[in-house]
Amino acid sequence: MLFLRILPLLLLQVICGKADLQDEILADFSVKLYRQLQSVGNEENIIYSPVSIVVALGMVELGARGPALKEIRQAVGYGNLKVGEELLILKNLTWALEADETQYVLKLANSLFLQTGIHFNEDFLQKMKKYFKAEIETVDFSQSTAVANHINQWVENHTENKIHDLLSADDFNSATRLTLINAIYFRGNWKNQFRPEHTRTFSFTKDDGNEVQTLMMYQQGDFYYGEFSDGTSEAGGVYQVLEMPYEGEEMSMMIVLPRQEVPLAALEPIIKAQLIEEWAAAVKKQKVEVYLPRFKIEQKIDLKETLQDLGIKNIFTKDADLSAMTGEKDLFIGKAVQKAFLEVTEEGAEGAAGTGMIALTRTLVLYPQVMADHPFFFIVRARKTGTILFMGRVMNPEVIDSNDRDFDAL
Ligand SMILES: *[C@@H]1O[C@H](CO)[C@@H](O)[C@H](O)[C@H]1NC(C)=O
Ligand SMILES: *[C@@H]1O[C@H](CO)[C@@H](O)[C@H](O)[C@H]1NC(C)=O
Repeated sequence: MLFLRILPLLLLQVICGKADLQDEILADFSVKLYRQLQSVGNEENIIYSPVSIVVALGMVELGARGPALKEIRQAVGYGNLKVGEELLILKNLTWALEADETQYVLKLANSLFLQTGIHFNEDFLQKMKKYFKAEIETVDFSQSTAVANHINQWVENHTENKIHDLLSADDFNSATRLTLINAIYFRGNWKNQFRPEHTRTFSFTKDDGNEVQTLMMYQQGDFYYGEFSDGTSEAGGVYQVLEMPYEGEEMSMMIVLPRQEVPLAALEPIIKAQLIEEWAAAVKKQKVEVYLPRFKIEQKIDLKETLQDLGIKNIFTKDADLSAMTGEKDLFIGKAVQKAFLEVTEEGAEGAAGTGMIALTRTLVLYPQVMADHPFFFIVRARKTGTILFMGRVMNPEVIDSNDRDFDAL
């Protein structure tokens, strides 16, 4: 019974030339990334994986010195930690996210592909294994087609065959020295599943006022719910937060929805790491009527641009200091990409629903209604630590053809 699939993936290519504190740092950086993506993203959907970006930057950090190292530490928010302390945090994160859970699937994998015949510092390679469990392989980047196929295969292997052809031969040449890849995959079933027979075609009103038809899932169930005010006195300042746990209640998706007449853009400026914590602490379990579109969004992000805007510049220049990788200052990052994919459905198999489901009959009691028929913001996070696996917004849900179900992983 496949419910939700998220597959982000991050690639960094190099070409020649404390528990509460840690959660706070990661959450702050997640929001910073969101702001950056939102500021360049027009009216589009957004999906990215903060944790994946943080881990990949950690791998680059291992090879960075001088200004390169300083910029990364500063931008991610490690400025107040002792040098190297963040590596322990990232190590813990890498291990924790690998936990073999039975109630959901979460996989984080790191890989380092090195040019054969080039010397890399043993210390750098050891630390890649020690902190990031990286698989290390040597390849010949001048055989660009073979390398692209090989790395794409690795990616498929670590995303349950969901991301194909991430790279092409054009991404490699004889100057490529190393490619770092981080892949994260998550699949969870809602604790309270939607019944497919309750899904209807429904109008979704975009922020520009245009309407699109989308498949809207419906259920009435127990969720964590709260109403908050953005500080303005008018009713328009009130927004809803719905937290829908996955089985096991360790992971959840948080949906943040402004009032129908308020564009999401009006709410976005108030989103802060601390506020996300406040939402999580304030929502209360209660009966809620939920209307949520089935959605599938995918985004390929040029991280080079995003990270530069956040102050990580040196590693992308000819003056880059990645000397901890090879002992020479001859490397720089040529390409940094993240591809993320998120699909939210009521369930993967017809007829599989039916256990512990909510009665259909409308009662006379009026429960709060969360009607996501206009743009909303979402976060997929670990409920205990607050680690944000995915974050984004739905501005324009695709109409999903009901025959276009994906049963292949069942
Ligand atoms: C890493 O995890 C271990 C064991 O859970 C814990 O004792 C340690 O404090 C953690 N280190 C950091 C830096 O979070
Ligand atoms: C992908 O998985 C297959 C099957 O387990 C394995 O034979 C192959 O070597 C893997 N390829 C890569 C690049 O990891």
